[in-house]
Amino acid sequence: MSDSTMTNSTGGKPETVLITGGTDGLGRAAAILFASEGYRVFAAGRNAEKRAALEQFAEEKSLTLETLDLDVTSDESASRAVAEVERRAGPVDVLVNNAGIAIAAVMEEVSVDDLRKQFETNVFGGVRMTPRVLPAMRERRSGRIINMSSVAGRVSNPLFGPYSGSKHALEAISDAQRMEVAPFGIRVVLIEPGFIATTINRAAAELSSRYMKNPATSPYARAYLSVLKMVQKRVASSKTTPEDCARVILRAVRAPNPRARYSVTREAQITIALRWLLSDRRMDKMTMRALGLDRDADEAGSAQSVQAEIEQLVRARR
Ligand SMILES: NC(=O)c1ccc[n+]([C@@H]2O[C@H](COP(=O)([O-])OP(=O)(O)OC[C@H]3O[C@@H](n4cnc5c(N)ncnc54)[C@H](OP(=O)(O)O)[C@@H]3O)[C@@H](O)[C@H]2O)c1
Repeated sequence: MSDSTMTNSTGGKPETVLITGGTDGLGRAAAILFASEGYRVFAAGRNAEKRAALEQFAEEKSLTLETLDLDVTSDESASRAVAEVERRAGPVDVLVNNAGIAIAAVMEEVSVDDLRKQFETNVFGGVRMTPRVLPAMRERRSGRIINMSSVAGRVSNPLFGPYSGSKHALEAISDAQRMEVAPFGIRVVLIEPGFIATTINRAAAELSSRYMKNPATSPYARAYLSVLKMVQKRVASSKTTPEDCARVILRAVRAPNPRARYSVTREAQITIALRWLLSDRRMDKMTMRALGLDRDADEAGSAQSVQAEIEQLVRARR
């Protein structure tokens, strides 16, 4: 990349990038790539150990990468983090709203508290962060907000109600905001990855453990088992790495005229294309057949065997 691309709106100093959830998984890979491309990067997260490990890595590689303590579910923490970036480096040029969690449960069983938790991070996290960087972007007539959605922001599968609900909300919010801020020279971009191996699945197993504990007593035992198997298979077979995803984010940041959405992984591209081509009825049928949910719930395996299989799968994810 030419220096002028990286510094195009900052009068010669490297652009400042703030990445929420930048201490692990996709955010960490993006933080490292941006720093190695010469951006001034702030990777933010809650976990002090992860922050220390990333800082050490950055020091060893001589990267312009610093970390920050940030919990995107707290107003106070969000204000403190943005103020700290501004104090150390000036206004944020690129905000990557990446921090995210996943809770897997059927909608009848998920608690409202867990749904709130899901939305508090994946939706309100970005809603909380973005207005804290927009005034300075508006003043400079430039800036980028990158919102980390998912293929689950375009389609919704059994057990994905909480997660997909949050990502669909994020997509709708981004669509509105993209047009609201465009007149000020600010761009809002959605990134839509499919399955990529990171720690999100282990975290999801923990966050969803109360629903996985006794699924055999749930009328949805078959759905729990099928979806867990599907997720495990797709994560294991995904050829896309966090570094591949980071390169797509970088492309979205550098593009003079970025698209509204960038999908990551071939599977995400195919799923989004199918969603566009097929009717709701065809899409439901195809999904349910793939998950083995197109049979009567009573026909599907004994409760004990389903429970044993689920326990095995959950153990394997930890
Ligand atoms: N991996 C995939 O297959 C995939 C697919 C589609 C979309 N995505 C999306 O990509 C994003 C990153 O996912 P990932 O797979 O990289 O997950 P990950 O490996 O679990 O990393 C998530 C990051 O978010 C941080 N985080 C979680 N809650 C936070 C909070 N309240 N405040 C601040 N930071 C918080 C975590 O750090 P701390 O725990 O230290 O705070 C961690 O750095 C998420 O939005 C996810 O929905 C992932």
